[in-house]
Formats: sequence, C-alpha cells, structure tokens
Amino acid sequence: MIEQLKAAALTGGAILKEGVYAPKNVEHKGAIDLLTQYDQAAEKAIVAALSKSLPAWDLIAEEGSGSDRQSDRRIYIDPIDGTTNFVHGHPFCCVSIGAWEADRPVAGIIYAPILGELYHATRGGGAFCNDQPIRVSTAERLEESLLATGFPYGVFEDSTLTRQVNDWLFRALRASRGVRRCGAAALDLAHLARGVYGGFWEMGLKSWDVAAGILLIQEAGGVVSTLTGEPFDVQSGATILASNARLHEPLRELLAR
Ligand code: IPD
Ligand code: CA
Repeated sequence: MIEQLKAAALTGGAILKEGVYAPKNVEHKGAIDLLTQYDQAAEKAIVAALSKSLPAWDLIAEEGSGSDRQSDRRIYIDPIDGTTNFVHGHPFCCVSIGAWEADRPVAGIIYAPILGELYHATRGGGAFCNDQPIRVSTAERLEESLLATGFPYGVFEDSTLTRQVNDWLFRALRASRGVRRCGAAALDLAHLARGVYGGFWEMGLKSWDVAAGILLIQEAGGVVSTLTGEPFDVQSGATILASNARLHEPLRELLAR
C-alpha cells in the first residue's frame, strides 16, 4: 500500500507547492487555528486518490472530508501540517498520511514538497527519506542533543497551557543544545527519525498530525510514548514524547519533574 500512499501524498504536495507563496483566502477554525483553500483542495485530492486506490480503508481527514465508517483499518490524513507556516510562506509544511490497523501503524508518508523531502516507512521495512534509509540520532546525553517541541493553539487563550509550555521549554533549554519550534509536528517527527532531533514532545496533537511520524520513528530505531511512558494511543490527544530511545527516560524525567 505504500505506493498508493506515496502517490496520494505527491498529488497533495503539488497543491502545497502551488500555494505556498501565492495569495490565500484565510479562514479561522479557532483564534489562531487557520484554514486555506489549499488545505481543502489538497485534502480533496488525497481523499479522491485513496478512495480509489485503497477502497477498503477508512479515511480520517483533518478538514472533514474522509469517510464516516470507523473500522480497524484507518488512514489518517493531514493535507497540510504546518498550516500557519504555509499561510506565512514559511517552507516548513507537509502532507502527512499514516495507515493504522487497530492500534498498530503499518505504513506512513510525510512529504515536505518545498524542502524536497519525501519520507516513507512500512512496518518491519525500515524508514527512508528520498529512498535513503534513515536512523535516529546516536546522542546519549541531552546536553549533546537538539530537541524540538510545538505549541498547541490553546496557548493564545488559556494561560494554564501557556505556563505548562513555558515550563517545559525552560527546563529543556537548560538541559540540551537547544530547542526548535518549527511549526509542523509531522515534520518534527520525520526530522527526529532522520537523526536531527534527539527528542520531541507536544501536548494535544491530533491523530493526523502523528499517525505517519510514529511509524517513521519506530522504524528508524526510536521510541514513542506518553509523558508517563505509557504506549501512545494515536487518537487520544495525549502529550506525545518521542526520542532516539537512549534519551527517552532522561527526557521523560526532565519534563515530569
Ligand atoms: C499543527 C502543527 C503545529 C503544532 C500544532 C498542530 P496544523 O498542525 O503540527 O506544529 O504545534 O499543534 O495543530 O494545524 O498545521 O495541521
Ligand atoms: Ca493541517
């Protein structure tokens, strides 16, 4: 199925490429949660492609154009992860498509067309960027690693959330080589799988943000869990903690303190 996912991601990605530096109609799903005609067009194109090529799978898509069925075979689609970046002409945005059978990821694609990075992974088959195998970083200490995180849209309105985000950031900044906030969670996970980051955390991500990235990380030798070290449920919205495996416990302890 990876070829079908790849074909759909390339179709969606072409729409991102066309729109990233063009004028856009910007709507608000929340105070700072944006939507453009390109999110909708990319999702429509991806859903049309997958409905045809993988008809037995349920499609769960961010902008709501997926199927209503909810079987154990699901494909989670984010047509543009990093919509705020996309709106502002920042090149860090991507298509993310992840297939899960019950609670196991089986195949995933993350395509960042402006960066020219196409990631794919299949369960047991490894993780790749532009068809080259990728591995997580070999860093053994937080002090020798770069970390990444993201901020939920709720920080704009909810000061408790903002304090928590700040608190984690403060601790991580004082324990690592630095913390990046690049604005596209799927791409952050792909970059962790490629060895750029030693660890990543973010609260409140949706299934379509993480469905593909989780498999990329697992196949590249990394680990994904909740902040308390429990298995991560892709639909839960729980805070995600991902790492190169060696840094998992140190990072978990640092954030939980
Ligand atoms: C967002 C991005 C961002 C993260 C947000 C997500 P969207 O997804 O992944 O990096 O911090 O929490 O919602 O809205 O651009 O698809
Ligand atoms: Ca999105």
